[in-house]
Amino acid sequence: MENLVKAAAAAAEKAYAPYSGFRVGAALFFEDGTTITGCNVENISYSLTICAERVALTRAIVEHGSEPRIVAIAVTNLNGAASPPCGACLQMLSEFVTPDTVVSFPAESGRIEKLFRELLPFAFVDWREEDHARR
Ligand code: THU
Repeated sequence: MENLVKAAAAAAEKAYAPYSGFRVGAALFFEDGTTITGCNVENISYSLTICAERVALTRAIVEHGSEPRIVAIAVTNLNGAASPPCGACLQMLSEFVTPDTVVSFPAESGRIEKLFRELLPFAFVDWREEDHARR
């Protein structure tokens, strides 16, 4: 995890965050031992901004194909602030994690490490796989 946090910090240096000044880096560690990073990319429209976590995820799909398995996630920022991954990023990541995936993120002081499923216990899931369609 220490190395993953370092990789996330290196990615945060690349952040394009001229509007918020909040520079975020994320690093995803995969089953095959590889790491993929991302930084936030902002836009003057504000709403088109992409978080570091989702930038890392989209890169990972290109590198790993459509079924990457993430075993660990590290998020950091260069602003010394608490920054757990936002809900939108958790939902996107939820399709590529395992029950044991761990997430490390900056707390008010120091870092917090949690299981992914503790951060998003009720991800929206594919309703077509449930019985709903037949009811
Ligand atoms: N941001 C991330 O990169 N990840 C998150 O999980 C939350 C927020 C970015 C988006 C925006 O560029 C900046 O932080 C301020 O919200």
